[in-house]
Amino acid sequence: MKDNRIHYKRFNERDQRFNERFDDAYFERQHAKGKLTAIERIDILLDEDSFVEIDAFALPLDYKGDNPKALGDGVICGYGKINQRDVLVYAQDFNYQGGSLGTIHAEKIQKVQDLGLRMGHPVIGLIDSGGARIQEGIASLAGYAGIFMNNVKSSGVIPQISVILGPAAGGAVYSPALTDFIFMTRKTAYMFVTGPNVVKEVLNEDTTSEKLGGADVHSTKSGVADFIYDDEEHTLLGVRKLLSYLPSNNVEHPPVAKNANILPDGMENISKIIPDDSNKPYDVIEIINRLVDKGSFFETAEGYAQSIVTGLARLNNQVIGIVANQPKHLAGTLDIDSSRKAARFVRFCDAFHIPILVLEDVPGFLPGIEQEHAAIIKHGAKLLFAFAEASVPKITVILRKAYGGAYIVMNSNKMGGDFNFAWPTAEIAVMGPEGAVKILNRREIEASDDPEALRRSLILKYKEEVANPYIADQKGYIDEVILPESTREKLIKAFSLLENKFEEKSSKKHGNIPL
Ligand code: HXC
Repeated sequence: MKDNRIHYKRFNERDQRFNERFDDAYFERQHAKGKLTAIERIDILLDEDSFVEIDAFALPLDYKGDNPKALGDGVICGYGKINQRDVLVYAQDFNYQGGSLGTIHAEKIQKVQDLGLRMGHPVIGLIDSGGARIQEGIASLAGYAGIFMNNVKSSGVIPQISVILGPAAGGAVYSPALTDFIFMTRKTAYMFVTGPNVVKEVLNEDTTSEKLGGADVHSTKSGVADFIYDDEEHTLLGVRKLLSYLPSNNVEHPPVAKNANILPDGMENISKIIPDDSNKPYDVIEIINRLVDKGSFFETAEGYAQSIVTGLARLNNQVIGIVANQPKHLAGTLDIDSSRKAARFVRFCDAFHIPILVLEDVPGFLPGIEQEHAAIIKHGAKLLFAFAEASVPKITVILRKAYGGAYIVMNSNKMGGDFNFAWPTAEIAVMGPEGAVKILNRREIEASDDPEALRRSLILKYKEEVANPYIADQKGYIDEVILPESTREKLIKAFSLLENKFEEKSSKKHGNIPL
């Protein structure tokens, strides 16, 4: 009979070497930089004891040494659970060659992506990497190419989440850019295509990693990062929270919560939030929090393009996506950044069966040379395209201003909005009263004995006769004028009806969204 002991001996020896990966120095090197190790991160991210590692013994290409740190080729890959649902995960290990991407490292990540795509589970990448492994040359570039291809194949099929917890330099930035959401940790995470040294060399400009591509920059200026947190633990817990709103793939629907006590606080004074003077700002988040289930609003890209608010929430325990104009920033106008931000969010919701609620208070597109020259025409069209194409249930509530092109964009009924409701405070017109009176009554005002008094009375008349919800209601452009206090109930009923919304499959290959 064959003696299997020799095989088991080899297995046990391997196990011994495997544990040598994680000596004290392994932890100390990362901790000294204010970072956690790859394995500690996985531990926080996943449900307790759920992680199963794969390819732990993979060695770098052509590796001939005997360093246990090389096991796994600088990336820990595997699967586990978040809130009892399966996920695939990879975590780059900066301790081995700066988390750089060699051939085997890349193949391991691709295997995780393949598994996620074939089984329909989200893929989460924990990035801490110096980019393409310089020693492996073209092979490491090809490794990135394979990862990018998988990112694109998975886009719209499974949620893909990137968590930047250290450097993401060179090739390391483009996989995150192809995924659905990017998380970053303040101070220790940074992302750039070319780092400060190259910037100095090419442009003779002095900068730092933080100033060039830190979490604050990417969450406010570039919009690359969707979520930022002060430390790694909160960043990883943020990923867990985000996943609680998402289905595992594009065939499933988002998970339905079973929370009790979901009634939002302050519903009774919701109508008091909008000021009497329609030129005064207010915080639309106060309205959101009075409409959706208590404490359920989870804002995305909070610090970027703040004239629009996007985020996930629950309404009667069902997940919805929210797009709301924010009057307290730039009067809620649509500019390039806010159009891009909202368009991408709408497309994400559409891909994953998340119904969309639009809360509208928008005076128009932001005027100006800067915006026009930077192509507000094309960028604004992205939002139009995204809303028009989205086949998930879509409801708009016009809270106050809905003027001109911006009215059309924000999921108006001829653009495919399933229901358009308006509050009595809604002002729906081609333009605001001041602008309209200036154009329509210029001669009359100039000829008047008291031009200012006439102008004011004409503005009032326009508000009463034109800029209100009732004309749109009479013509069927608005389905119902509703009271603020009844909005939550109206929305629950309307979204319930729309659950059966039928999606027509198109025979075309794809549309040509203005990019
Ligand atoms: C191989 C690398 C590496 C890389 C870092 N290391 N980056 N090894 N290939 N790309 C190694 C270092 O040699 C070092 O090894 C260890 O990782 C830690 O690096 P340090 O520099 O000591 O760490 P730190 O000071 O924290 O700086 C981190 C860093 C820096 C900012 C990421 O290492 C860096 O600038 N690396 C290069 C970044 C870069 O230009 N990447 C682009 C590659 S080109 P030892 O043995 O000393 O510990 C690319 C193109 C793809 O990615 C494009 C596709 C679209």
